[in-house]
Amino acid sequence: MEKLWAGRTDGNMDKFADEFNSSIGFDKRLYRHDITGSIAHAKMLGRQGIISKEDCELIIEGLSGILKDIEEGTLAIDSTAEDIHMFVEAVLTERIGDAGKRLHTARSRNDQVALDMKMYIREECGEIISLLSELIETTADKAAEYKTAIMPGYTHLQRAQPVNFAHHLLAYCQMLLRDISRFEDTRRRLNVSPIGSCALAGTTYDTDREYEAKLLSFDTIALNSMDGVSDRDFVVEMLADISLVMVHLSRFAEEMILWSSWEFRFVELSDDFTTGSSIMPQKKNPDMAELVRGKTGRVFGDLMGMLTVLKGLPLAYNKDMQEDKEGVFDAIDTVIMCIKIFTGMVGTMKVREDNMLAAAKHGFINATDLADYLVKKGLPFRSAYKISGEIVTWCMDSGHVLENVPLEEYKKYSDLFDEDVYEAVDLKTCVEKRISAGGPGERSIDRQLEHIKDSLMCFK
Ligand code: ARG
Repeated sequence: MEKLWAGRTDGNMDKFADEFNSSIGFDKRLYRHDITGSIAHAKMLGRQGIISKEDCELIIEGLSGILKDIEEGTLAIDSTAEDIHMFVEAVLTERIGDAGKRLHTARSRNDQVALDMKMYIREECGEIISLLSELIETTADKAAEYKTAIMPGYTHLQRAQPVNFAHHLLAYCQMLLRDISRFEDTRRRLNVSPIGSCALAGTTYDTDREYEAKLLSFDTIALNSMDGVSDRDFVVEMLADISLVMVHLSRFAEEMILWSSWEFRFVELSDDFTTGSSIMPQKKNPDMAELVRGKTGRVFGDLMGMLTVLKGLPLAYNKDMQEDKEGVFDAIDTVIMCIKIFTGMVGTMKVREDNMLAAAKHGFINATDLADYLVKKGLPFRSAYKISGEIVTWCMDSGHVLENVPLEEYKKYSDLFDEDVYEAVDLKTCVEKRISAGGPGERSIDRQLEHIKDSLMCFK
């Protein structure tokens, strides 16, 4: 495709340099945002009398036609064009003649590309928020089903204290809710229109940037044209937000992998979300969870890549900034796939309450409750802690669990022990009695479910 900027040079580039310079291979995904932005620009130019009403109409009609043709597949995006902006302008001029050449008045590709990226990322924030809402809803629904499924809660991956499966799942809902709020923040902060900043120093035309911003649903305009064209903070923020989603999903994925192993057998993943082995007939592998865990690496790489591209860049636009796209596109595609996969995987997994309970019965996860029992009878916590530890040692030597230590044995350690100790160490009681706000007790679980429901309503 002929270079629209030919003039200062003959526009004939070395073939390899031309390919190296080109971004159409990846920025073609911005065609809709680019055309939408250009339509708003033409409207502003027409309204301000910078171009004639006739030209304005011709441009809008021409651009709408290009958009329609690309969407319908009748206009292929030419891979020899330098970038999507050049492609659209060239096709427009081909179709409507000189009027097409007037579109780029009071504009530069520098503010145009910043605008396109903002509109694209703004839209993707919405898409990710809605997918995260679905995942939270699915996870919360699972939690509601397993309010009474007792399982060991872990610290250091050692059985620690009893919780229920609902409480464990709802922890992930909290993380994902925070993720949503981060995308909302990013979307709000980026909603400042750069268009009209032009190459870097604004323009001599009497433009109406506010009007153009309003047409494109921006809250306000960039107040400094140099910042307007060189700001890519929103790309970094988006990548950071996505990276945190991946941190959360990879932790959840790791638990899915552990829980579905023979060592745990807390859950069974659906056949739809597992694979077999080509050699070991007994295998059912949690590949989806492993891939989510693995893909976290590339997303962190995308974030690091963007930060490094921006570091030390002088103002204003530099071609380095063309490198803002592939990483963030990759991160967005990746996180969208991962959230969708997770929603399917969580929604279809079978929960093995019996195995969770069996695991909870071993490992003395009610030892803190035994100590608390003595504390409630007046013993200082440290002394109660020591006695409970000694009883656990006795149990391990004699093959007992706290639930079946004979009362006379308990009494050897403290005469505060009585028949009611058995209720205190009963796992069900241990969970139910954890009445503190934010704990695994019934009221707290209901409160968490309610909070999730209310929060999700705001995103719908
Ligand atoms: N393809 C370019 C990018 O993505 C568009 C902006 C080009 N601007 C320029 N002055 N060469 O950054």
